[in-house]
Amino acid sequence: MPASKLVRPDMDHLDSYLEALSEFHQEGCYLYRDSEKIRKNAAQFIADLRDDKSQNHRPYQDWVEYVPETILWMVKDGEYIGGVDIRHRLNWHLEKWGGHLGFTIRPSMRGRGYGKKLIQKAVPFMNYFGIEKALITLDPARKEAARIVEFCGGRFEDELPATGKFPARCRYWLDCT
Ligand SMILES: CC(C)(COP(=O)(O)OP(=O)(O)OC[C@H]1O[C@@H](n2cnc3c(N)ncnc32)[C@H](O)[C@@H]1OP(=O)(O)O)[C@@H](O)C(=O)NCCC(=O)NCCS
Repeated sequence: MPASKLVRPDMDHLDSYLEALSEFHQEGCYLYRDSEKIRKNAAQFIADLRDDKSQNHRPYQDWVEYVPETILWMVKDGEYIGGVDIRHRLNWHLEKWGGHLGFTIRPSMRGRGYGKKLIQKAVPFMNYFGIEKALITLDPARKEAARIVEFCGGRFEDELPATGKFPARCRYWLDCT
């Protein structure tokens, strides 16, 4: 059976991605992504995910400096399992609340070890992009996310309190050399 791997977003995995998107919608995430619109503009949607330009970091996309960002999907047996957003460098917002790496596993695939694999597989890509130490920021309530980051070698730096505009974040550094 083939192992899971990271790939650039592509049309081959779009149907599976859209099934995952409806799972994310059920937990209240990615509600700004409309499956019907994506289907109608599928080629453009995939091209936008592949262009390494910055993605919009809501809700402050208008006044946060853009940084290059690479999106990779983790797939296995033709199915979308999860994905990472790798920001090639930090800006003031990412330094405190976003970090170098965003990662997610689709709800129906959680608790099977894919989260750990996702981070481990992202490390060589971050190294390739010149990131020696990756900042990872987590919601303090997400104990499962902290567990996998620590399992992968992430070292706790600090916990930033919530502000009027941003939620609290625990910050970790992950060696990518
Ligand atoms: C965080 C996330 C990626 C984990 O994915 P996953 O595939 O379920 O992770 P794994 O199966 O590799 O490991 C989960 C670990 O957390 C543990 N865990 C699961 N739920 C837990 C909980 N509520 N409290 C404590 N630990 C928990 C599991 O036991 C497992 O640890 P173990 O292998 O040592 O027993 C997934 O939950 C997710 O996508 N969450 C939403 C997005 C997110 O929070 N991303 C992180 C910030 S960008």
